[in-house]
Amino acid sequence: RPIVILISGSGSNMAALVEASVRDLWGERFGAGVVAVLSNRPDAAGLAWARERGLATAVVDHKRHADREAFDAALMAAIDAHAPALVLLAGFMRILTPGFVHHYDGRLLNIHPSLLPAFPGLKTHQRAIEMGCRVAGATVHRVTGELDHGEILAQAVVPVLPGDTAEALAARVLTQEHLIYPRAVERCLAGG
Ligand code: GRF
Repeated sequence: RPIVILISGSGSNMAALVEASVRDLWGERFGAGVVAVLSNRPDAAGLAWARERGLATAVVDHKRHADREAFDAALMAAIDAHAPALVLLAGFMRILTPGFVHHYDGRLLNIHPSLLPAFPGLKTHQRAIEMGCRVAGATVHRVTGELDHGEILAQAVVPVLPGDTAEALAARVLTQEHLIYPRAVERCLAGG
């Protein structure tokens, strides 16, 4: 049961997932394992991390495709080369076409750095601070055609502290992301 992870940047969530898959014996327990890390950015730091651990990597550079459909078709081909049971978006900063989402229906998860349905979209931490929120957090959810919606699989809450900058809050939330994403994937693999 191959798992493919899509990243656009540092890939800290990808790293947490890979480490959890080894530490928590996803192979022995579920016949599952991370087989590839793909990115839309050639310079995504997570690609080097994945390569060092022997994972397959590939770049599908959105700048080299005429439009969103062409990019998604190329990305799907790169993903389907691994015949994935699960496709995990982890800091993947592209909006995917309905055709892409439909193709992976039920096999596509994402992590979003807010307590959905609050703060879909970007700059979630800055917006939470500006609104005076007392709590913030992260959400793991199934990906549907509508951005940052879809069945919620896991959430974590952190306090927003007086004087918090967006960076400080992001770091506090990220720590929790690294815990809830692997747990949510494991529940999916266990048939949850
Ligand atoms: C994280 O806040 C994640 O929730 C968002 O992208 C940020 C960076 O993630 N989707 P990562 O370090 O690249 O995994």
